[in-house]
Amino acid sequence: MAMSEVWDISEPEPAITHAELLLLHNAVLDTTAQTVVELGVETGNSTLALLMGLRYTGGYLVSYDIDPCDRAFERVDGARLGTRWLFRQRHSLSDRWDRPIDVLWIDSSHEFHETRQELRFYEPHVRTGGIIAMHDIESVPDVERAIGAYFDGGYRIERHRLRGLRANGLALIYKGEA
Ligand SMILES: C[S@@+](CC[C@H](N)C(=O)[O-])C[C@H]1O[C@@H](n2cnc3c(N)ncnc32)[C@H](O)[C@@H]1O
Repeated sequence: MAMSEVWDISEPEPAITHAELLLLHNAVLDTTAQTVVELGVETGNSTLALLMGLRYTGGYLVSYDIDPCDRAFERVDGARLGTRWLFRQRHSLSDRWDRPIDVLWIDSSHEFHETRQELRFYEPHVRTGGIIAMHDIESVPDVERAIGAYFDGGYRIERHRLRGLRANGLALIYKGEA
């Protein structure tokens, strides 16, 4: 299956654009990711893009969502990517996490305090050379506020606003690249 197939199987008018899904897919490849953590699944657009990257790197995806995300399950099964996916239906901050993370993808509550808590909880486990990706930096000011409140030196932040494509904006934050 090629990346172009994310286009074919994505929902009509998803809240995340194809260009943003490609950025996520490439983050998995760039880091040769073995472990990816996703906060916020819903219908599974980003889930599929991450899993498609993980097919090439041989890694796996752990996703959190408070909802059952049935549609995402159908789509992941349809794409035969379920063996690389561990879905946890619970709040993003409810488990203990103690393993290294290559890519952390945050697209959950978008609320300032909760987003900052998610960063405090997971980001210390992102390895040097890993990537933190965050959605809706353009459409939800709280997300940009949380980025400003959490990150200082030691990170390179790339903001992909993609306005012409009516995207909600995605930040790629490279750990260890000031
Ligand atoms: C914008 S949607 C995710 C979209 C998905 N990433 C995609 O690309 O299709 C946000 C999801 O985050 C979930 N969510 C919100 N706050 C959460 C939290 N604290 N823990 C787990 N899931 C949460 C919601 O249930 C919702 O399904």
